[in-house]
Amino acid sequence: MFILAVSGSAIGLGNIWKFPYITGVNGGGAFVIIYLICIFSIGLPIMISEIMIGRKGKRNPITSMEILGIEETGNGVWKIVGFIGLMAGFLILSFYSVIAGWTFHYFLLTLQGLFIETSAMEVKTVFNQLTQSIPKQLIYHSFFMILTVSIISKGVRNGLEKAVYFMMPALLIIMCILLYYSITQGNFSEGVSFLFKPDFSIITASTILVAMGHAFFTLSLGMGCVVMYGAYLQDHESIFKTSIIIILCDTFIALFAGLIIFPIVFANNLDPGAGPGLIFQTLPLAFGQINGGILFGALFFALISFAALTSAISLLEPSVVWLIEKRQIRRSTAAILMGLLIWTMGLFTILSFNNLSSFVFWKGTIFDNIDFLASNILLPISGLLFTVFASWFMSHKSSKRELSDTTTLQYNIWRFLARYIAPLAVIIILINFIGVF
Ligand code: PFF
Repeated sequence: MFILAVSGSAIGLGNIWKFPYITGVNGGGAFVIIYLICIFSIGLPIMISEIMIGRKGKRNPITSMEILGIEETGNGVWKIVGFIGLMAGFLILSFYSVIAGWTFHYFLLTLQGLFIETSAMEVKTVFNQLTQSIPKQLIYHSFFMILTVSIISKGVRNGLEKAVYFMMPALLIIMCILLYYSITQGNFSEGVSFLFKPDFSIITASTILVAMGHAFFTLSLGMGCVVMYGAYLQDHESIFKTSIIIILCDTFIALFAGLIIFPIVFANNLDPGAGPGLIFQTLPLAFGQINGGILFGALFFALISFAALTSAISLLEPSVVWLIEKRQIRRSTAAILMGLLIWTMGLFTILSFNNLSSFVFWKGTIFDNIDFLASNILLPISGLLFTVFASWFMSHKSSKRELSDTTTLQYNIWRFLARYIAPLAVIIILINFIGVF
């Protein structure tokens, strides 16, 4: 169950929508390599640390950190780490829901056969029509938030985890069909070389920060949701092995998505740096040309919407559980309250693509800034603190007990990465970005 819950949280829009689009914006290969390095040197130790904290704390991320902080260091101030994570989750869900709404809209459009034999120009127009329409986006964003809130209110996570079990193979099958299309109809060699041939000359401090931030985002780290799920991991299950499996699956799906999308981009003379609309301007072209495109296309967008839903639930659950424990209110009241706040925040993302698209500062539109702040600053900071706590402040005895099923070598790898490599990398990348170096 644990592995399904965390995979359901990790695999989502981050893999299929965000990874290809930020890879495109950041110039391809070199970005991908930095991202992969971050996944294994920073993501792995932090995931292990978060699961350990969750399994030991057995509560929502804030309370777990408070209790463990008192137990291990005599200081409950560690709960701040949980707060930073919740703040990030709040911001992320506000735009996540809007983008999930787009995928649901594309599910309906594909089902209507709109993309049959379509051209790149037409697909672009359809995307622009969506982003220019506030009412349309509002309907889908509201629909997605209502769905998330009602599932959380009922606490029906169990059924969803089982659904993840069927969703993943189905998603993989459709992705294989799409890959076949990209190999045969796309410009596969150019796509592969864009994705894997590094050009380090175009890398800046900001690119590295985005790659690291995405490692956190895609693995759902720093937010506390892995801490929360860690509470469900049974004592006899291996934290180390489970983490590796989740990370490999997540990375595989993201690279797979890149391999599908970029050959289509280059075959149709599209711009790889097109931004958040990238998958919506490429995949419909493929579905318009393959046999059974309506069925596969609709199924694909339905599956992505579902993957987004399981991630959204994991984004909302920790704050709802925290609110219930803190204020002693009903689960449904807590879910509606948080949902309303996040829904309102989501309006800014919707407006970033139309009325407020020229309101640009710091990292771009309001959406760009919300994403940047949450994914690239807040997630790494709280992830850093989770791992520093687990590796420096939790006693050797406690961490050894949580990782009792690992070999000494595995334990030492975790401890070395968690104590030195991950914290140093996060600190250097953050400081470098601020421009102190
Ligand atoms: N990992 C999810 C994705 O890749 O789509 C997004 C996400 C879920 C981020 C949960 C953070 C989180 F806590």
